[in-house]
Amino acid sequence: MELRHLRYFVAVAEERNFTRAAQRLHIAQPPLSRQIQQLEEILGVQLFERDSRPLKLTDTGRFFYSHAVQLLAQTAELESMTKRVGKIERSLSIGFVGSTLYGMLPKIIRRFRAENSAVELSLQEMTTMEQIKALKEGRIDVGFGRIRHEDPSIRRVVLREERMIVALPIGHALESAKPVLSLHDLIGETLIIFPKAPRPSYADQVLAAFHDRSLKPHRIYETRELQIALGLVAAGEGISIVPSSVHGLKRDDVSYKELDDPNLVSPIIMSMRMLDESEDIRTMLDLIYALYVEERMAFMPPPEI
Ligand code: BEZ
Repeated sequence: MELRHLRYFVAVAEERNFTRAAQRLHIAQPPLSRQIQQLEEILGVQLFERDSRPLKLTDTGRFFYSHAVQLLAQTAELESMTKRVGKIERSLSIGFVGSTLYGMLPKIIRRFRAENSAVELSLQEMTTMEQIKALKEGRIDVGFGRIRHEDPSIRRVVLREERMIVALPIGHALESAKPVLSLHDLIGETLIIFPKAPRPSYADQVLAAFHDRSLKPHRIYETRELQIALGLVAAGEGISIVPSSVHGLKRDDVSYKELDDPNLVSPIIMSMRMLDESEDIRTMLDLIYALYVEERMAFMPPPEI
């Protein structure tokens, strides 16, 4: 059995149709059908139910599919990591969620560039879940996100936990009601959450904070991203709960209030491929902790590597 067989099988299983699978693979349909037939002969099993339209996997086919997908992902990972190891020109591709731009990300990038001029850095904005996929496919080498996603091929380092704060339209009654607010104070308001998709996202951390305290906001307004949420807050559409670094984003139509509960935090998580022991990633991690110390910021204990 060859890798080609796995790729062809996965395409047919996902498209549930030989014509679409052949188009996806940029090959003609007859050789694709022959390859699937050959695969079934090699394995001595039936992978697809005969004459089903759309095509349906047999139980054996479903078992084979789940393992084939993992094997293909590992192959892509091996390819990208080997390319990286063998590269003379060094490069580091970073995926980040938008909200980290208001924290330490710009400083980290500037410092890394200044101290590591031989490494070409590139930045791409993407959600935490997109980062996991991009890491596995070798499109990025490091991700900075906020979701504690478990994946056996990804290593996660929780760098720090950022307090959540409330963004209110300027002049809102809660602005002067108390020095610090509780989530209970907010339940009569429209809660603007982001990002709307893909889930889970920071939006779910905010919703879980209410749910864990048996609280239910009066109305939920889901929006695409932080900047839009803040614009809507400024317009008086509701309030939003944002990571405290957003405070640095000064707007004269939005005011920020602290929350009383120290457990209301959103983590900043660095993700990388489990087997990637690149020097540049180590350098990036050391630089982040050095900056935290310089800026006297609280952070989580660094991992033993
Ligand atoms: C931070 O704000 O701590 C941070 C943001 C992005 C990447 C790493 C750290």
